[in-house]
Amino acid sequence: MSTETKEIVVVIGPGSIGQAIARRVGSGRTLLLAAHNEQATEAAAEQLRGDGFDVDVHATDISDHDAVQSLADTAAAMGPVTQMIHAAGVSPTQASTEQVLHVDLLGTAHILDAFAQIIARGGAGIVVASMAGHRESPYDRDVERALATTPTAELLALPFLDPEKIGSSVHAYALAKRANSLRVQTSAAAWGRRGARVNAISPGVVITPLALDELAGPRKEWFEHMREVCAAKRFATPDEVGDVAAFLLGRQAGFITGADLLMDGGVTAALRTGELTMG
Ligand SMILES: NC(=O)c1ccc[n+]([C@@H]2O[C@H](COP(=O)([O-])OP(=O)(O)OC[C@H]3O[C@@H](n4cnc5c(N)ncnc54)[C@H](OP(=O)(O)O)[C@@H]3O)[C@@H](O)[C@H]2O)c1
Repeated sequence: MSTETKEIVVVIGPGSIGQAIARRVGSGRTLLLAAHNEQATEAAAEQLRGDGFDVDVHATDISDHDAVQSLADTAAAMGPVTQMIHAAGVSPTQASTEQVLHVDLLGTAHILDAFAQIIARGGAGIVVASMAGHRESPYDRDVERALATTPTAELLALPFLDPEKIGSSVHAYALAKRANSLRVQTSAAAWGRRGARVNAISPGVVITPLALDELAGPRKEWFEHMREVCAAKRFATPDEVGDVAAFLLGRQAGFITGADLLMDGGVTAALRTGELTMG
């Protein structure tokens, strides 16, 4: 029996995008899947095990600081954590303004902090942000600085993150995803001190259960118009995000850290030119 310790790949949010990334980097390593719905996480684990991956699970609600810390500690105790994939989140149609702030904004900050303490030398992390973070940005300079640098425990007390001031879960999602990108940038310094890298990807619409909820929601017609006018004239597949993430997690991206790679089929371009306006 081999006593070799395998490298650990933590997959937070093993939904469609999380699994697509995990499949590209997980062979020969142990995948530690983390999400809050135990049944869904176990189902994802079974599917991956059936395809030959070595998989463990750990229930985690990313909006809970202690739960994320416990996940990071558990992962570190299993072996060297060489990769961290953060693909957990809720969409504006699925969740209230408060939930979007707690899960997408605060949860991501928890993850960046906790894994900055345990990521292995030479390791890398990826955070799935969104093109929504590019849509309403740049925000006011002070807002951007506060999103980037406010200590995590104080983030939701920022006056401009008051749900009543934000107004809708759509605006909350855009703010949260912009915050993801900014905090990846600042976190790259702490990750760098451990000899590790961390980057974000900002996808456009990727066909997953989360996106299908959005496409059937109140902004349905706007999404259809978006598909028609964007350069790609289509939505993306999770595998396409998997390929970009595998590149950013791998050796060829060794000089890239703190970056946010926008892959939206040209939607932001259409917004900038005015061919598409906000729905
Ligand atoms: N699909 C798109 O068009 C698109 C575009 C841009 C960005 N994104 C981003 O990509 C990420 C992944 O989305 P997806 O499309 O792959 O959706 P998905 O298949 O619905 O996956 C979402 C994952 O997030 C997990 N999750 C939700 N709330 C959580 C919480 N509080 N704690 C821990 N895990 C939680 C879910 O776990 P449970 O099963 O336990 O709920 C699930 O594993 C999200 O951050 C989303 O904003 C998606």
